Amino acid sequence: MSLHLFLLFLHLIAVAIWIGGMFFALCCLRPAVTQVLEPQQRLSLLHAALGRFFRYVAIAIAVILASGLVMMAHIGFADVPRGWHWMLAGGIAMMLIFGHIYGAGYRRLGRAVKAGDWVVAAMAMNGIRRLVVINLVLGIVTIAFAIFGSAF
Ligand code: HEM
Repeated sequence: MSLHLFLLFLHLIAVAIWIGGMFFALCCLRPAVTQVLEPQQRLSLLHAALGRFFRYVAIAIAVILASGLVMMAHIGFADVPRGWHWMLAGGIAMMLIFGHIYGAGYRRLGRAVKAGDWVVAAMAMNGIRRLVVINLVLGIVTIAFAIFGSAF
């Protein structure tokens, strides 16, 4: 098995965890807890669940970046299809947005949950939700660059 294929395998597992986790959080977990739980329990649960998910996202980001850059460097940055550069740009934009979600929104949510300030916690959670929607859409567009990019 070539190194390229092994790196591609790691790259795609990490992408699946990140994109799949965002889809699950947005489309399944959040609507379900909104329907079933009161704000206090809902926001505490979302804070605990997101904290765990974000740790895996941080690992996924390290794997995506390292595997992607090594695969590109191996072929030569000037020689890869143009779509791969768009994948790199999309990936970096997603990583910066994740940094903002974690460094600003999630910390704000954590402080508000600890203080029992459910209004501020709900606002912080709403901000996180909006940024995760953007990252999910960007992720799907980035996958399109990766797949159709070879044609350019
Ligand atoms: C941020 C830095 C990234 C770099 C440097 C990078 C680079 C690469 C490279 C070199 C390949 C190998 C393509 C091949 O052999 O066909 C690849 C494949 C792929 N990447 Fe990325 N990537 C990055 C981020 C992402 C992100 C964030 C996503 C998804 C959201 C993504 C999705 C994919 C997919 C779906 C493939 C498989 C494409 C195929 O084999 O046809 N990549 N990436």
